[in-house]
Amino acid sequence: MDLIKWRGSYETGIRSMDTQHQKLIELINKLYKVLREQEPSSSIEGVLLEMTTYADEHLQIEEGLLTTNGYPDLANHIAIHQTYRDRLTALTEESARKSATAAQDTYAFLRQWWMEHIVTEDKKYGEFLKSKGVE
Ligand SMILES: [Fe+2]
Repeated sequence: MDLIKWRGSYETGIRSMDTQHQKLIELINKLYKVLREQEPSSSIEGVLLEMTTYADEHLQIEEGLLTTNGYPDLANHIAIHQTYRDRLTALTEESARKSATAAQDTYAFLRQWWMEHIVTEDKKYGEFLKSKGVE
């Protein structure tokens, strides 16, 4: 694995969402760096918390935008976010209980989930929101 490079093809076309998605990718990359450099677990936990807190805020803002504009696939989109929240909660509990590998597992999950979500599910709402006048 390596750092993720942001590409134009990841964009939804909605400026605020794209800015936040890019910031999420930056935070995932930051987590990758602290893990690779084997920094003390306190700084790994700090970056993990920074990333997951920002991600949580982003999901709320995104859900608000989709709700306000009457996105037809809203319930499904929120359900997908909820599976993410549940999985992250489980991983966080696991890492509180033990292991040095838990942070790596959490990183792998965050990286895979966010990349997939941004380029599949989130891309679907771009055209819809634009048709509602959201930029
Ligand atoms: Fe989303």
